[in-house]
Amino acid sequence: MRAELSCFDPNCRARFAITDVIYTCQQCGGLLEVVYDGPPSAEKDLKTLWRERRLSNDPLDASGVWRYREMLPFDGQTQHAVTLREGDTALLDAPRAASYAGLDRLRFKHQGYNPTGSFKDNGMTCGATQAKRLGLRRVACVSTGNTSASMAAYAAAAGLDAVIFLPHGNISSGKLAQALEYGARTLQVHANFDQILALVRTLAERLGIYLLNSINPFRIEGQKTIVIEMLDQLDWRTPDWIVLPGGNLGNVSAFGKALRELYGLGLISRLPHLAVVQAEGASPFYEFVNSGGEFRANPHPETLATAIKIGDPVSWPKAAFEIRVSKGRVERVTEQEIADAKAVIGRCGIGCEPASAASLAGIRKLRAAGTIAGDANVVGVLTGNVLKDPDYIYRYHMGELRTNADTAIRPHFGNPPEVVPNDADRIAELLEVKVSG
Ligand code: F0G
Repeated sequence: MRAELSCFDPNCRARFAITDVIYTCQQCGGLLEVVYDGPPSAEKDLKTLWRERRLSNDPLDASGVWRYREMLPFDGQTQHAVTLREGDTALLDAPRAASYAGLDRLRFKHQGYNPTGSFKDNGMTCGATQAKRLGLRRVACVSTGNTSASMAAYAAAAGLDAVIFLPHGNISSGKLAQALEYGARTLQVHANFDQILALVRTLAERLGIYLLNSINPFRIEGQKTIVIEMLDQLDWRTPDWIVLPGGNLGNVSAFGKALRELYGLGLISRLPHLAVVQAEGASPFYEFVNSGGEFRANPHPETLATAIKIGDPVSWPKAAFEIRVSKGRVERVTEQEIADAKAVIGRCGIGCEPASAASLAGIRKLRAAGTIAGDANVVGVLTGNVLKDPDYIYRYHMGELRTNADTAIRPHFGNPPEVVPNDADRIAELLEVKVSG
């Protein structure tokens, strides 16, 4: 199956070679996507092939991305594949979160179980592999934290030089620490994510650095496997809703593309609705979809969920298309709603980082509005690991979490630690345990 790059704009659709080092259409400047010239060639039924690979110890079969390589643009040439055994993430039942949202049942697909703790690994394995295929030496990204952690790891594994650009003071220390540990050159810029992305796009061309932000279509191809694996885990029974947080809007674009391709191949018989959830202070896509008119960037995005603190998402045209095709929704939630939803996910024994909890907060809101039925089959996607932002957690439980506008977040599910004396009787008394004898 031959793959090419194509302009995403329906009025252009210019085609380029899969090995061209470009991020936007060379004719109109539009977004690029990978297109395939026919169904994948496989020696047997794809569902059977993918299921059988789960029994194999081959590193590519063991990866929850490369197991589905028939859906990826590497034409059977996997000799450059850079894998850290990404994917293979759990699909977890969360009864407590279900009742919080008003649903009979709710499952979470937890992308925080990835090697660097976020869904970015699904895309980065493909991005790093493409860099190797092209013979490039240096990769770069701008990030709210997770992309940089992931890129740093994959670049190190692939023997590539990594340059990372971060909004100074606006990413969690856990994510910054990962980039440092994996050996990336880390530049903290006094600007926000959107401003730095514009800067890095010009620098990448000037310095010949391969850009691994989600504007890179190979990242999107890898992230398709999140949904492919989810459906495999569901024995190909399509959920009614898939709900995920939205920032730069690469992930929802990948999900929509995956679903359309699976449908086109007859591997699923209907499309689920996609719902994207944004933080209220960084919700330009919500406003665009729900208020109509031109897309308007928010120059001053604000949210404590720093992963999705993005005001000018590059993939909005793709995301808008996928929401329309899937008859989906875009919701937005407050800082308080995110914080409480996050604590509820914690009480399920699951946990996630703040941006991920927007999924549950959004599901709850869509359920309350009657958009999602109580007996609907819903999968929420948790995008990042609970340990990505421990500072946020501590502040919430201590009742010290405040929004950027200095409003206190109420710890409705707070569970602060207690300081106790080194005294068995006092501790026993505190725990209401009878001291025998
Ligand atoms: N959740 C987490 C934990 C993220 O890190 C991101 C994006 C998103 C959700 C939103 O996904 O951008 O595809 O809509 N983080 C990027 C980064 C921007 O730099 O790590 P999206």
